Amino acid sequence: MSELPPAARWLPARSFAGDVAFVTGGGTGLGLEIARGLAALGASVVIASRKAEHHSAFLGEARARGWPASALVLDVREGAAVARAADEVAERHGRVDVLVNNAAGNFVVPAERMSENAWRAVVGIALDGTFLCSRAFGRKMLERGAGRILNVVATYAWTGMPFVSHSASAKAGVLALTRSLASEWAARGVRVNAIAPGPFASEGAAANLWPGDEEGERLAARVPLGRLGTAGEVAAQALWLLSPASAWVTGSCLVVDGGVSLPTGLLEGRRA
Ligand code: COA
Repeated sequence: MSELPPAARWLPARSFAGDVAFVTGGGTGLGLEIARGLAALGASVVIASRKAEHHSAFLGEARARGWPASALVLDVREGAAVARAADEVAERHGRVDVLVNNAAGNFVVPAERMSENAWRAVVGIALDGTFLCSRAFGRKMLERGAGRILNVVATYAWTGMPFVSHSASAKAGVLALTRSLASEWAARGVRVNAIAPGPFASEGAAANLWPGDEEGERLAARVPLGRLGTAGEVAAQALWLLSPASAWVTGSCLVVDGGVSLPTGLLEGRRA
């Protein structure tokens, strides 16, 4: 297990040495790749997810590689529990440097058939959860006058997207929150940025958004760069925005989508 995780291959070794990082939804998919990358580059990483069984992949790898790591069971929609988690991390480690708001939920459903509960579940996790975690962990960062927050949105935050109106609305809110907090907290040493991933291969996305290989292949064929992304490639951009390499960047949203969201114009299909 000597090879570095994919996301950690592009920044100098020890880029996050001494940092304490909290990653929501850090046990699976993109969150796991971000957590692995941060840990491989020297951070002490605490992951949070609702299900304890989602902790084992990261904790197992951390043990094998000697990374300082731990995990909490947490539903990011519960403000009091989020505040307790921030206190616990700050008490145990003495500081919090990095927050990654990655936890989200999504499924395809026509708006006219979406229940109130379905809307609330998705908006609650992505938007309320990002606010509650940013507030709780942000307070710790503001006390020290330093910190970095990375939010995960999607390009449909500004384009909208049929059949995921709950997630698109939540991500639009998270984008506005990113810019609002970036502006509010910049002078106090806390940077807040976002990434907007396009379609990348992950179990969650495959199960919830494009069930079946055929659907995945159809999507891949529509990506200008010719394929779906990987979680490691997307995570690498998240690490960039959390690292000292982007010290003068705040309130930005980096699109990481293989060109999917670029307009194709009226000459679509024409080859040079
Ligand atoms: N289609 C339509 N409605 C759905 C649905 C689907 N595929 N999945 C869940 N819902 C509805 C439920 O029916 C429920 O509404 P109801 O009470 O009116 O029936 C509501 O959403 C809440 O579902 P529940 O499972 O109780 O909520 P939860 O908070 O435990 O789960 C989800 C959160 C719904 C986001 C769940 O899909 C999840 O955890 N997914 C895994 C993470 C994920 O999606 N990652 C994103 C990868 S891109």
